[in-house]
This record gives sequence, structure tokens and C-alpha cells, in this order.
Amino acid sequence: MALAALSTTFSFLKAMMNMKELVATGQAGDGREKALLDHVVKTAEKGNPMSVLNVMDDYAKNSSWLMNIGDGKGPILDNTLKKYNPRVLLELGTFCGYSAVRIASQLHRDGGKLLSFEMNADNCNIARQIIEHAGLSSEVVVVEGKFNERLELAKQFLEEMNSPHFDFVFIDHWKDRYMPDYLLLKENGMLGNGSGVCADNMGPIMAPADFRKYLKTHPEELETSEFKSSAEYLWWFPDSVTVSTFKLPSQL
Ligand SMILES: C[S@@+](CC[C@H](N)C(=O)[O-])C[C@H]1O[C@@H](n2cnc3c(N)ncnc32)[C@H](O)[C@@H]1O
Repeated sequence: MALAALSTTFSFLKAMMNMKELVATGQAGDGREKALLDHVVKTAEKGNPMSVLNVMDDYAKNSSWLMNIGDGKGPILDNTLKKYNPRVLLELGTFCGYSAVRIASQLHRDGGKLLSFEMNADNCNIARQIIEHAGLSSEVVVVEGKFNERLELAKQFLEEMNSPHFDFVFIDHWKDRYMPDYLLLKENGMLGNGSGVCADNMGPIMAPADFRKYLKTHPEELETSEFKSSAEYLWWFPDSVTVSTFKLPSQL
């Protein structure tokens, strides 16, 4: 157990030492994401999201650390989804599809769908295959690209879903984009009164200072709770998830 935790820490540090590449490409640079896909396909039960998530968690703890929301903070996301019961969802930052599987497996409303943006083409392919393995391809659309560069696609998705806005947004891409992409969502009317906005990595070490400050200074627009936890697969690294309810000015 202690040895596994040590090796996860080592694998995390290895990814961090390659931070420049990680930020530029969205991959750790040692092929761990493709190896994860092979491992999931080989060992997770097909059509079983829980089995897929367990295999991904296991891989991140025992083989190579991964930047999934993970099984520590995952239950915060699960409880939040229960609270909002969303039909039309957006994710910023798919990576290998862990959170997409977690979210899509809990859509209780008929025809619920998640649109997920990922800038890295290889991650998109990996995520699509993992989501397919979990049996959730009809519930998740993975889009290659950055949200701010593909706004039209998000608008088209909302039209197809017959909804003026997203019921729920999960923000989990690079931290310098939390604030500008939230403002894009708001300014383009993509958030409705009561929409949920959930943000990962809001803890003391990684948090985007501008978005954190915005949440603090705009309680009338975003009613926020913070859930303290630790970073994915690293018990010693404090982190948190914020959950905010968006309020339209006319509804104040
Ligand atoms: C922390 S990971 C996402 C983890 C994923 N949500 C999960 O829990 O399984 C961040 C991902 O966001 C992607 N990314 C970073 N900036 C992005 C942007 N502006 N648009 C789309 N994807 C982005 C990275 O390539 C990376 O795969």
C-alpha cells in the first residue's frame, strides 16, 4: 500500500517534471495515456462504466498517475449531478474520458447528453474508445479543440438538444482558461438560471486565482460551495472542487 502510494507520487512528479510538454500537449510524454486505453480495453468489462472507472483508478494508483478527477473527488461530482439532475451538459477538458464516463453513467434524464471539449487529438481518440468501451457513446460527444475556438459547435449542440443553455458545466481544463471560458459561457447566454458550474482543482496549490476571486466577489451571480479534498490519487496534496449555482441578474 505504502509502496503503491510512493510509486504514484513518483509517477506524478515525473509528469510534473515534463510540465512544459504536459501543458502544450495534454499528455505526460511517456505514452501512459495510450497504455491506459490498452489496459482498459483488455481488463474492464465492456458496457460497464463502473468497471471502466475502477480500472482507470487502479491504473492511476498502481501504474502511472493520471490527471482524472479520480475516486477521491469523484463522489463530489456524483453528488453534484444528483443535485442538479441535468439533461444538457458541457465539459471543458476530456483528457482520457474518466470524468465523461463518470458523468454520463449518471444521467438520469431521458436523452441527456454531455458535450466534452479536448484540445489534444490523441486524447480525443483515447477518450472516445474508453467511452465506447463503457457503453456510453450515445451520451457523450467528444469534440477536438478549444472551447473558445469552437463556440459555434457548442451553440449547434444546444440547438440540437433544444435547449437555450447548459444545465451543468464541468470545468477541468488548463487553469488560465477557467475565467475567460466561464465569461464566454455567460456572455453567450449558455448558462441559465439555476445552471450548475462545477470546477475541479480549486484547492490552495493549483487553483486559478482569478476564477477563485471571481467566485468570492460575485456571490449574487454564482452561489458557491467549496468541497475540500486532495488531488487525484495523492493523499498529501490538498485540493478542492467548487460547485456554484448560476443566477441570472433578472432573477436576483
Ligand atoms: C485535468 S485534464 C481533464 C481531466 C478529465 N476532466 C477527467 O477528470 O477525467 C485537462 C485536460 O484539458 C485539456 N485542455 C487544456 N486546455 C484546454 C482547452 N482550452 N480546451 C480543451 N481542452 C483543454 C488537456 O489537454 C487535458 O487533457
